[in-house]
Amino acid sequence: TSINWTPGSAEKHGYRHYMLKEIHEQPSVISHSIEHFLKDGKLNEEALGITKLDLDKIQDINIVACGTAFIAGLLGKYFIEPLTGLPVNVDLASEFRYRNPHMLDEGRTLVIAVSQSGETADTLASLKHAKEAGCQIFSVCNVEYSSIDRISDSTLLMNAGPEIGVASTKAFTSQILCLYLWANAFAKQIGKLSPEQENQMTQELHSLPVHIDLAMNSEDKVKTIINDYYESPNFLYIGRGPSYPIALEGALKLKEISYIHAEGYASGELKHGPIALVDRHMPIVAIAPQDEYHDKSISNIEEVRAREGMVIGIGHDKDDKLQAVCNDVIPCPQVNNPAFQAILSSIPIQFLAYHIAVKRGTDVDQPRNLAKSVTVE
Ligand code: G6P
Repeated sequence: TSINWTPGSAEKHGYRHYMLKEIHEQPSVISHSIEHFLKDGKLNEEALGITKLDLDKIQDINIVACGTAFIAGLLGKYFIEPLTGLPVNVDLASEFRYRNPHMLDEGRTLVIAVSQSGETADTLASLKHAKEAGCQIFSVCNVEYSSIDRISDSTLLMNAGPEIGVASTKAFTSQILCLYLWANAFAKQIGKLSPEQENQMTQELHSLPVHIDLAMNSEDKVKTIINDYYESPNFLYIGRGPSYPIALEGALKLKEISYIHAEGYASGELKHGPIALVDRHMPIVAIAPQDEYHDKSISNIEEVRAREGMVIGIGHDKDDKLQAVCNDVIPCPQVNNPAFQAILSSIPIQFLAYHIAVKRGTDVDQPRNLAKSVTVE
């Protein structure tokens, strides 16, 4: 079964921009995904694209993608490696296609393409190389019968509905969820996910839509704080663990639609360069959920505050430690599952980019020089 997206799905429904509409669609996209990717409360191997792959042969995994889809792939590595026990390499498709990467024949390497449109030229070219090299090919794709869907041995159709805004939002969180559920289904098939672990995961999954709904409340706080920040010419985004790719995505979103220069860094890299940029004019967005990295994140924030950087924390509003070290905190619900937390942390960074761009008067849905789908090199 697939979801019936009507032509009306591609209208703005009273929202000022497609991007804003698509941000607000995320609770329903995730709810649909739960229906679609679970069957009788268990992982649906067929919808997740597992059944057409020869899992026992796979010895290593390469993920290839561009733009936001690449960042979803980076996050995928954090879950796929521990769940499957297989080494995962993540490459920009534009690099992978030309650098003679390590690939094993006879289906022993699995190449995963992540692509909303299914038409990105570099991603498609990477898959052609992989096919010639004898790899198995799997794709996470939002468009059925797209070129990437057709070249793949197996496709997980995201079913996120049409995404019109050039800056990807709902496709990103959907890609995270799809890669995570796929990794769980893979682990289950090779005996690395027990029925108890599957149950616990699906229980956590069922409460995700409620938490995403709550994450939507972060928009009000974003609107009240941006006056202090929107004129800054530069922004830094930092995060650790799964929050690191979210920092990259935050910076990408901001530069795409507001034209502010923004960089995403792993917090541990601050001392290796970016801290030299920090002074009282530099806003730093710190993605800091209460996870295993929390104490380290707090001390990184203290380091930039000591250099007078202005810190916008993204974390739990009851997190007193975070409140104490930040200039402002954008509230985000807290959950135990790191993949679901990454999805939740994505919402405030989307609102932040969106409202700053609107305030600066840019063309949010059609940013200059960018295309929704890059079908030429
Ligand atoms: C373009 C879009 C991005 C997208 C990237 C990859 O740069 O503006 O939003 O992430 O292409 O697109 P794909 O369709 O392959 O996910």
